[in-house]
Amino acid sequence: MFIGGKMRIAVIGSGYVGLVSAACFAEIGHKVISVDNDADKIAHLERGEVPIHEQHLPELIKRHHRKRLHFSTVIADAVRASEAIFITVGTPPSETGEADLSFVEAVASQIASAIDGRKVIIEKSTVPVRTCESLRKTLLLNGAPPDSFFVASNPEFLREGTAVLDFLYPDRIVAGVDDAFSSSLLQKIYAPLTSGSYYCGKNAVAGPDGCALKARLILTNAKSAELIKHASNAFLAMKISFINAVANISEAVGADVTEVCAGVGSDQRVGPRFLNPGIGYGGSCFPKDVRAFHTVATQCGCDFSLLTEVMKINEEQRRRFLQKVRSAVWTLRGKKLAVLGLAFKGGTDDVRESPAIAIIEALTKEGARIIAYDPVAMAKAKGQLAASQVTFASDPYEAATDCDALLILTEWKEFAELDLPRIRGLLKFPIIVDGRNLYEPNRVADAGLVYYSIGRAVAVPLAISSAVRVHPESPLDLVAAMAIRRQAVTAA
Ligand code: UDX
Repeated sequence: MFIGGKMRIAVIGSGYVGLVSAACFAEIGHKVISVDNDADKIAHLERGEVPIHEQHLPELIKRHHRKRLHFSTVIADAVRASEAIFITVGTPPSETGEADLSFVEAVASQIASAIDGRKVIIEKSTVPVRTCESLRKTLLLNGAPPDSFFVASNPEFLREGTAVLDFLYPDRIVAGVDDAFSSSLLQKIYAPLTSGSYYCGKNAVAGPDGCALKARLILTNAKSAELIKHASNAFLAMKISFINAVANISEAVGADVTEVCAGVGSDQRVGPRFLNPGIGYGGSCFPKDVRAFHTVATQCGCDFSLLTEVMKINEEQRRRFLQKVRSAVWTLRGKKLAVLGLAFKGGTDDVRESPAIAIIEALTKEGARIIAYDPVAMAKAKGQLAASQVTFASDPYEAATDCDALLILTEWKEFAELDLPRIRGLLKFPIIVDGRNLYEPNRVADAGLVYYSIGRAVAVPLAISSAVRVHPESPLDLVAAMAIRRQAVTAA
C-alpha cells in the first residue's frame, strides 16, 4: 500500500509531545508540518528559537527546518498536504478530574472541514479510553465523508528531558488501529525505527548505552492502546507512591530506604527503575493521568480506589518534606532558605505541577524567604511565584550564601556534585534537607553538614565546625550537643 518514500505528516499542537514528535518524524525521514494556533510560538520556531528546554531538540529542528520540517498556524493547509494527521494538543484536567478534551474536539472539527482525500487521524495526546470513538463521531458530525478517513491511537511515552531519545529509542511503540489501512500506515511511519534502518545512518542521534537497535511495535486496537497509556502512567505513579510509603516506614524504624530499594528492585519482576523516593511525582502527566484514569474507572462502574491512595500518598509526601524542613530549622518565619531546583524534575524547565513550586509556596506562606536556583527553569518559575518572598540566584553557591538551610528539590546532576565544604562555609547553619536523596549521608556529614534526606536517618557531623555561628534558639543546639556527645563516645 505505502511502498517506499517518505510519508507526509501533519502534527497538530506544538507542545512537548507535538514538537518532539514533529522533529523526530522529520529526523526519521518524513515530510512534516508542525501546526500550532499560537502565532507567537510559530514565529519563534520559524526564527529557530525552541520554546522548551529539551536535549537534542534544537539540533534536530535546525537540521530539518525548511527541508523536511515546516511550521504553520493553518490546520487546513497541513491536513490537505498530509496523509497522516497526528493530534497532539493538550488534554488538561477539568475541575472534576476528567481530561478536558475540548482542544481535541476543536481540532477535529477543523480537520473535518479540510479533508480532501483519504486520511488517517491519529490521537497522540494522552486521552481516556474511547476517545477514538468520540473523535470519529466529531469528524462525521463536522462533515468529513465517512469513507475519507480512519481514526487510530498512537500514545506517546516520552519523558521530558529525554524526550528525543525516548522517541527515537523507545521501549515500545503502541499502534492502536481498527482497520488495515491505518495499521499499514503506522507501520510504514515507524519502519525506520522498527527495521533499525535509522540507527545505521551516520547522522543518527546516538542512543543510550545498551539500547535496542530495532524498536518494538505493538499493534493492538484503538481502545487497548488508549488504556495502555493511562495504565502505564498510573502504574509508574503507583510505583513512586509505593516506594515513598516504604521510605516513610524506613525512616520510622531506622532502616535505609536506598538499601531497601536496591533489595526490592533487584527482583527482576519489580525492577529498579522508578523506585526513587522523594517529594512526590509532579509534571504535566502523572498527576493529571492518575486523576483522569480514576475518573474513567468510576464512570465504568469499577472501583479503583488504589489510585486514590496513590494520589493521597503523593500529597502527603510534600507535607512530610515540609515537616522535615521545620524540624531542621524549627520555625519558618523570617528564615532564609536556599532552594535548588524548581522544575518538576531535573533535566527540564517545565514547572507544571512541580512539587518544588508547591513546597516553596507553602514555605513562603509560613513566612520564609527563598533564594532559588535552577539551571533552566527560573524564567518559567518566575511567572508562578510571588516576587516579594522569592529571589533568584545565579548558581547554587550564591543561593546558599547566608541561608539558614539548603533544600534540594530536583535531581540535577550539578546538585549531586556540589562542593560540600564550600556550601558549609557559605550557609549560616550547616543544614541540607535533600528531597531527592542525591548524597550518601555520611559523605555530607563528613563535610560538616547536618543532612536530612528521605527514608534515611539524619546524618550528623561528628564535630560542628567552630567557625559556624550557632543561634541560641536553634535546634542546631541539639544537633551540636548530639554531635559532641557522639564524638566523646567515639573518642572514649
Ligand atoms: C511521564 C512518563 O514517564 C512518560 O512515559 C509519559 O509519556 C509522560 O509522563 P514525565 O512527566 O516527563 O514522563 O516525567 P517522569 O520522568 O516520568 O517523572 C514524573 C515525576 O515522577 C517527576 O516529578 C519525577 O521527579 C518523579 N519520580 C520519577 C520520582 O519521584 N521517582 C522516580 O523514581 C521517578
